[in-house]
Amino acid sequence: MESSRETEGMIQKIGEYKDSLHAEVLDDLQVGDHNYKYRVLDGVVMPPYVTPDRYRLSRSIETRPEDICYISFPKSGSSWLANVIYLLVNRGQTPKGRTLRSCLYWLESSWPYPCEKETVDRAPSPRIFKSHMPYKMALGGGPGNSPCKYVYIARNPKDVAVSYYYFESEKEWSGRYSGPWDHWLDMFLNGRVQRGDWFEHVLGWWRHRDAENLLFLTYEELLQDFDGTLERLIDFIDLQSDPEILDRVRERSTFDFMRKDSFSDHKEIAQLEGFFRKGRIGSWKEKFTVAQSERFDRIYEERMAGSGLDFVFESQA
Ligand code: A3P
Repeated sequence: MESSRETEGMIQKIGEYKDSLHAEVLDDLQVGDHNYKYRVLDGVVMPPYVTPDRYRLSRSIETRPEDICYISFPKSGSSWLANVIYLLVNRGQTPKGRTLRSCLYWLESSWPYPCEKETVDRAPSPRIFKSHMPYKMALGGGPGNSPCKYVYIARNPKDVAVSYYYFESEKEWSGRYSGPWDHWLDMFLNGRVQRGDWFEHVLGWWRHRDAENLLFLTYEELLQDFDGTLERLIDFIDLQSDPEILDRVRERSTFDFMRKDSFSDHKEIAQLEGFFRKGRIGSWKEKFTVAQSERFDRIYEERMAGSGLDFVFESQA
């Protein structure tokens, strides 16, 4: 095994992701256009490192009321949210020599820190789970079936599509997509990228937003109203609001702080170099042509109609 958990006081560098080392099961992998690799679980396109056994474990795990599971479609600000949640429940402190990723339980994934059931069962509360699953594939069976607190974060899909394109191609991540942007955009709009259809993913969770144990947030509100969103999180997780802790969370969650701090910079994972790309609203404008944007808008209007959910696509700053 190329990757390993960190030892106390030392952050180990983790090598490149490789299917042969990390995907655990290789016989059901598929290769699509432009070498894009994936597997299909329950009809949804998934990364190679989301294996059938890991997925079964994440579905069947017994959660506790103190647990927190944050979920998103990829590239929606989930690591930022993870950092905020971690700091809130740990009173603004981070453990020396550890990284954010190594403190989270990402059950559906065999990479970079595979979690075994016994370890997760033994872990003290509150455990923080990470997931990128659509509602129908939710960890622990999802809100309503599991006492865990679920926090979903969504982001405007134009920024998601662009961020995901760079993540999957330039970084040679698990999909190793080698095609051009316009083809990627087609795949995104047709639900053929890993984690499936963005609209189904976001609306699937949005429809259950009134569940007592689900909080639905957006990247844009976290950026534009950080303090207000923090208060909603504190209420939801049922924590005491302490000004000193809030100051620390605020300071340690900015884009600039996170990309430089060894706890949150993701630098232990070779392929996450450059993970902190733009960190703002509206960078899609540097990539979309006018025609692509108009086509996207038409599909967006149609798919989101009647949902009551809308996104901020442009920065007001
Ligand atoms: P960009 O590629 O648009 O810059 P995820 O963690 O779900 O993969 O999301 C990654 C996106 O969140 C990236 O978007 C990244 O730059 C952005 N991001 C990460 N930390 C952030 C922070 N502290 N503030 C704002 N954006 C952040």
